[in-house]
Amino acid sequence: MRASQATTRRIGMQLVREKKAAVMQEMERKGDVEKSKIVGRDLLSTLIRANMAADLAPAHRMRDEEVLAQISTFIIAGHETTASGVTWALYSLAQNPEIQEKLRAELSQVSEEAPSMDEVNALPYLDMVVKESLRFHSPVHGTMRVAATDDEIPLAQPVIDEYGKSHDTIKVQAGDYIGVDVILMNKSKALWGEDADKFRPERWEEDLNGANDIPGVYSHLMSFIGGPRACIGYRFSIIEAKALLFVLLRSFEFAPVPGQEIGIKNVIVARPFVKGQEKSLALPMIIKKVTRS
Ligand code: HEM
Repeated sequence: MRASQATTRRIGMQLVREKKAAVMQEMERKGDVEKSKIVGRDLLSTLIRANMAADLAPAHRMRDEEVLAQISTFIIAGHETTASGVTWALYSLAQNPEIQEKLRAELSQVSEEAPSMDEVNALPYLDMVVKESLRFHSPVHGTMRVAATDDEIPLAQPVIDEYGKSHDTIKVQAGDYIGVDVILMNKSKALWGEDADKFRPERWEEDLNGANDIPGVYSHLMSFIGGPRACIGYRFSIIEAKALLFVLLRSFEFAPVPGQEIGIKNVIVARPFVKGQEKSLALPMIIKKVTRS
């Protein structure tokens, strides 16, 4: 772990130094609009540029060490989760060719190759497909919390214990671990209806029934959980996934490999593997270029 941390630090600090130098050069060349457009449109340069802004109070300025710490957040909390979410979205689309075709028809109607964020967010079927994919194949399957004090967790419906006694709450003691099962809530038939285990984006234009009560930070889903420690990057991740699907689906068709079964391995995020080849993580698919008539 120490060796890995040292590597992360060495490469991370080098990146921070390089980007900082590029941003400083860019600032010196102020007025050269074309170049400032090209230099550093990536997330780290944007962060460094914002951190060096003249109107930022010194108390709000981050030290290089603090900027470095953000890189791990982007990569671990942000990159792997979003990448796995897009992987599973493509898998669901490959398995449901009629949904894939309906989405491609919507995306193909957009005349620009690089639409704005607002234009991408306004595409209704893309929005439904992304929500359904995050519900159906949540990249994070669960998390946990530790009770800070003795408490009682209220229940939506009473449970009957092994002695036949009914309970409206569950008592917890300080230090108890509480599992938060994302999949159980994202796929509960009691909340989503009998077809909860079916990939059906159209459900998002209907009444969500009991799922309306799920206190998720995003669209009644537990994928980004809820409450004060919910995911801070969910809006970023959703527009990123939409942008990737927009580009990929307009150009390519995705189909499953016949006879191949895919399993899910939970390595912090849920990743695919081919059944029978458990050792490597992979999602082989047949990809063809879209032929426009
Ligand atoms: C599909 C993509 C994503 C999923 C499914 C996801 C999911 C989650 C979940 C479930 C948590 C709560 C973890 C816990 O407290 O146990 C979380 C927290 C967090 N996420 Fe995300 N996330 C995604 C994308 C991102 C992105 C793009 C970023 C940043 C660029 C990000 C940054 C964070 C951070 C910093 C936290 C910790 C927040 C805190 O504890 O206050 N996530 N995320």
